Amino acid sequence: MSGVFKKHAEAIYNLRVRPDDVWVITFPRSGTTWSQELVWLLENNLDFNTAREKPLFERFPMLEITSKIPEIAVELIKADFMNLGSFQGLNEAVKTPSWKTIEEAPSPRFIKTHLPLSLLPPDLINTAKVVYVARDPRDVCVSYYYLHKMVAKNLARATMINFWEAFRRDLLPWCPIIEHTNEAWKQRSHPNLHFVFYEDLIKDLPYEIRRMSEFLGRQTTDAQVKQLASFLNFNTFKKNKSVNNTTGDNNPVQFVRKGEAGGWKSHFDDKMTLQAEEFLIERLKSTDLEYPSFPMRETTTL
Ligand code: A3P
Repeated sequence: MSGVFKKHAEAIYNLRVRPDDVWVITFPRSGTTWSQELVWLLENNLDFNTAREKPLFERFPMLEITSKIPEIAVELIKADFMNLGSFQGLNEAVKTPSWKTIEEAPSPRFIKTHLPLSLLPPDLINTAKVVYVARDPRDVCVSYYYLHKMVAKNLARATMINFWEAFRRDLLPWCPIIEHTNEAWKQRSHPNLHFVFYEDLIKDLPYEIRRMSEFLGRQTTDAQVKQLASFLNFNTFKKNKSVNNTTGDNNPVQFVRKGEAGGWKSHFDDKMTLQAEEFLIERLKSTDLEYPSFPMRETTTL
């Protein structure tokens, strides 16, 4: 994390969790937005109108966004040097730490964070409902790369190879990814923690909608599942201005970008592919975490 996180870490760790909170926790670019919208709709009687009209970042704010942005970046944003546009309402959010706004927000609260469980209030999963979404780190890396291109296009001269190098060495914000995911994976049997893979959302969205609905204790009919699946469908979602946090319609990179599993294969060369396999094996070997797209026991290349 950027150094300024230190100023906020304690307040975040000590934030009062409420029993009617719903939290969505992910490593960036894992399908956070997609899952947030599903959670919000299930918890708000499928209020598609409000979902269309009110930006998701207002309905479902991010806990640490202010602490993530170094103060110097605020100046760069103001000077239009960093092209953040209205990305996630950032120009507003920087004025007050978002954890402070969240602390004072009326119930029920919907909270998004990219922080791992170990940096969050220790009583979180014993108190509130938590959804954790995980994604194949290789696809996360590609998606994260494009996010950097989108928000800091004047600054990010990195190539995909440079970016992967930084990613595998844990040099990017919120890294390391596997340790982040494993903290939640270890709690996956806890009744208040719902663990989802992005790849499973891609594979069978209606099934995952039902699982999510059950976790949240909501009754959802088949017709409603269909409605939700259609609202959350990638092509519809991409056109939805409430969730597609672009920095402008003309930006060639969009927040809701490609929406596929395994896209990394067309971005990684042979060397990166091998490095990624090594990275996954090395990091996963002391855990029982297994990504659907990387079944450890079947890996034969190494
Ligand atoms: P890609 O860049 O691989 O397309 P987050 O919300 O955590 O930042 O995750 C963003 C990733 O989720 C992006 O991945 C984005 O395209 C994908 N995504 C967002 N909405 C989606 C949807 N409705 N269906 C599939 N993928 C979606």
